[in-house]
Amino acid sequence: MTVAPPIFAKGLSLLKFPSALAALLLVPTLAMAAPSVIPLPAHIVPAQGRIEIANGAAVASADPGTAGYFIDLVRRMRGLTLRSVPAAKPAAIVFKRDAAIVAEEGYAIDVAPERVTVSARTNTGLFYGAVTLAQLMTQTPCRGCPAALDAMHIDDAPRFAWRGLLLDSARHFQSVATVKALIDAMALHKLNVLQWHLTDDQGWRIEIRKYPRLTSVGAWRGAHYGGFYTQAQIRDVVRYAAARNVTIVPEIEMPGHAMAAIVAYPKLGSAEAPPSRVTSDWGVLPYLYNTDDATFAFLEDVLDEVMALFPGPYIHVGGDEAVKDEWKANPAIQARMKSLGLSDENALQSWFIARIGAYLAHHGRKMIGWDEILEGGIPPDATIMSWRGIDGAVTAAKAGHDTVLSPAPMLYFDNRQGPGADEPPGRGHVLTLQDVYAFDPLPASLDAQARSHVIGLQANIWTEHIPSDAQVGHMAFPRAAAVAELGWSSTHDWNDFRDRMAPELDRYRALKIGFAPSAFEVNVAAAFEDGRAAALVSLSTQSGLGEIHFTLDGSAPKPGSPSYGGPFAVKLPATLKVAAFVDGRALTAPTVHELDTLSLLHRDSRELKLCSERLPLALAGGHDVFLVDILDPCWIYEKADLGGIAGVEAGAVQLPFNFSIGADRDKIALRPPRTKAGELEVHLDGCDTAPVAVVPLAPGGAPQKLSAPLTGLSGVHDLCFVFTQKSVDPFWALNFVQLVPRP
Ligand code: ACM
Repeated sequence: MTVAPPIFAKGLSLLKFPSALAALLLVPTLAMAAPSVIPLPAHIVPAQGRIEIANGAAVASADPGTAGYFIDLVRRMRGLTLRSVPAAKPAAIVFKRDAAIVAEEGYAIDVAPERVTVSARTNTGLFYGAVTLAQLMTQTPCRGCPAALDAMHIDDAPRFAWRGLLLDSARHFQSVATVKALIDAMALHKLNVLQWHLTDDQGWRIEIRKYPRLTSVGAWRGAHYGGFYTQAQIRDVVRYAAARNVTIVPEIEMPGHAMAAIVAYPKLGSAEAPPSRVTSDWGVLPYLYNTDDATFAFLEDVLDEVMALFPGPYIHVGGDEAVKDEWKANPAIQARMKSLGLSDENALQSWFIARIGAYLAHHGRKMIGWDEILEGGIPPDATIMSWRGIDGAVTAAKAGHDTVLSPAPMLYFDNRQGPGADEPPGRGHVLTLQDVYAFDPLPASLDAQARSHVIGLQANIWTEHIPSDAQVGHMAFPRAAAVAELGWSSTHDWNDFRDRMAPELDRYRALKIGFAPSAFEVNVAAAFEDGRAAALVSLSTQSGLGEIHFTLDGSAPKPGSPSYGGPFAVKLPATLKVAAFVDGRALTAPTVHELDTLSLLHRDSRELKLCSERLPLALAGGHDVFLVDILDPCWIYEKADLGGIAGVEAGAVQLPFNFSIGADRDKIALRPPRTKAGELEVHLDGCDTAPVAVVPLAPGGAPQKLSAPLTGLSGVHDLCFVFTQKSVDPFWALNFVQLVPRP
């Protein structure tokens, strides 16, 4: 007997569908849950019957590349071995050309009892049909089992042409294997643009034959951190991406973010004293290219080699965060500005960018830049990537320029994904999967005319705080799946998307795509009960997906373990192991929680509230991660029950202030120290009350555990923690807070 396919097994309720999708279902009595495909196809019409694809099934394809990719994908995701046969031969799966399919990336799939037919006019369409079909065949995790598909017809094409990710290989450098793995994972999501951030202050990562010092000097910082991609490696990556319908848009930053290049070739710089070495300060550095003709000749030489390596239509020229202090202070640059009749440095930047844009246009390429290139006048034909919110996109679109939406913080994937103590370093704003899915790339502030200029969206993986290749996947997925659906699909329903994530996580595991469990793993909140003898435990997940099962006997939770129905009491101490399950399978590895008096009174810095969120960062230091607002290092332990508390302990570490933040640095409010090494102050209900504890820091700056009695206090209060210190660099950060109960 054939096992009922999962799309029926999951239930027939129309209520589960996005309404627009439901409206498309022609025969409501045949209604099925949306197939677990991400991004959701545009039109799905169910039909009668089903087909089973088993080991050895034949695949005939008008495009051999697509057949090879599809067979490999099905083998890796499902454990089925399919067989390629010549295009004219009978086959269970047929990829064929159909000149009537208009959309460049569009395709149709006809699942019928006799065979599955994927049609498209282009190889790209066939490829995306293959991706969808491979997902239809992996809606259940059963490896090696035949895949049973319900008959249906799919017509699909993307909403936007630009569905992008940015990978910053300058701040931290990734291996070629990691870049290829990211491209592979993008293809699975029908993401089609990889903006490769190859040059920045902290490193130049692309071999330029005419200027070897760019990489022999500019690719290295500190004692030995660095690396670059040779031209042979880049050609290989570009080919690899093209075979997966990913276009790589190289980003060569100018006129700012240029320290590495200027260290390599000091004549390119604008300051009297050029930087002598590449540093790893993050933020906005002052170093700008000058406006000499020789510097343009250099940039044009670089772009010649870049254009020879990257055949795509777009070249990204950066243009962001170029503070103009060096240009203001340089007489030659000021003279040039005046001789060009330009009113100010913004106009000079506009002239600079327009000159480069003309060079690119002369070579048949299109220029794209960050929204700062709007300042001083929009360069002709430039496409604008809007990152400082969406204002840049609005301005560009209204002026008739194409635009890509990539606003911070909504599409900045260096932000952490939850407030838990297991999140890796990153920016400190919490950006969940659901937050990303809620982003609207066509906001109401754009009229119909302006909307036609929005060519897509892009999420950015900036890597200041992503030192390891392994962390790239964690920051990118599953949030990139939300970007894929925003970029490809026109209907969006969070609950439906969330439900489709369960098989997607299985695909990630099968393909070894690293991802963050943050949206799906179980979070635990525990409050004392019965004095401190017991705790009331509440369980939840960010996404709400699945059924939560837990154990208290040390065993791993299974579908048969107690199921969570609401807050429950446990006697302390207890070991809680917990995971969320869908169709009997755990969505993530279980989380383990040792619940006892001390653990309930402990907060990692990532679990504390910041007093403000001016520039919140989760910074790595040794094996720990410290959540801190570097413009306001101040933390709050919310709602501490001080009844029966004897004192407080806190971990303090000193971190280098390696952030170039210009005038903001002067706005960091330092509290004057009473003793030479400074103190940690603890305040009750606000940070400007008289401190209830003042703990001197030991001299020398080593990490330390501070402790202080808290006497005579009771009731529930917010505790505020701030350091007194003389200088910003280095600065003190809080590692953890432990309230200590009376014995
Ligand atoms: C940017 O984040 N500076 C584009």
